[in-house]
Amino acid sequence: MWPICFFIVAFWPIFVHSLAPTDEIQDADPAQSGYLDNHNMQPTIVGSQNFGILWQNTYGAKEKWYAKPLVYTPPGGTQLVFLASSMNVIRTLDAVNGTMLNSRTVQPPFLQSDIGCTDIPDYIGITGTPIIDASVNTAYFFAKGYKNGASSGGVANGEHQKGEFPGSL
Ligand SMILES: *[C@@H]1O[C@H](CO)[C@@H](O)[C@H](O)[C@H]1NC(C)=O
Repeated sequence: MWPICFFIVAFWPIFVHSLAPTDEIQDADPAQSGYLDNHNMQPTIVGSQNFGILWQNTYGAKEKWYAKPLVYTPPGGTQLVFLASSMNVIRTLDAVNGTMLNSRTVQPPFLQSDIGCTDIPDYIGITGTPIIDASVNTAYFFAKGYKNGASSGGVANGEHQKGEFPGSL
């Protein structure tokens, strides 16, 4: 007698948001090779007339960007640039012309003077590149600040807390 096996295969429709070919929603490829095959920086491209500065913006004098800008096209929207700065300011800009679409300080940034660690000047807020989960239209990042919304009084080796800053991209 043959054993009878039942296989139940279920399919769930999964919302898959297809990105634009020039979107870049994370720091590097998953293997962290540093190579992004949709942003080729070959001499022939960089030296061509198709390559140049399209727009530039100026923000806070002491603001720095250690986090790589991300490029993302939200569902039904136009392509945007997502910026996150050392002063904990996040911004979305229109990718075509740099017009600011949205801006928010997620929390007061950590003051370098609180600990005197001089490798990062003035403010130690967001320093790592965020990552965007396109399936839920959400950006994730770490923002260094203070407990209970304070804006100074930090110590070395302070505690870490998870914060959420809801808003859609
Ligand atoms: C910037 O480009 C977007 C399209 O991506 C357009 O809707 C908007 O009007 C432009 N803004 C300016 C100030 O040119």
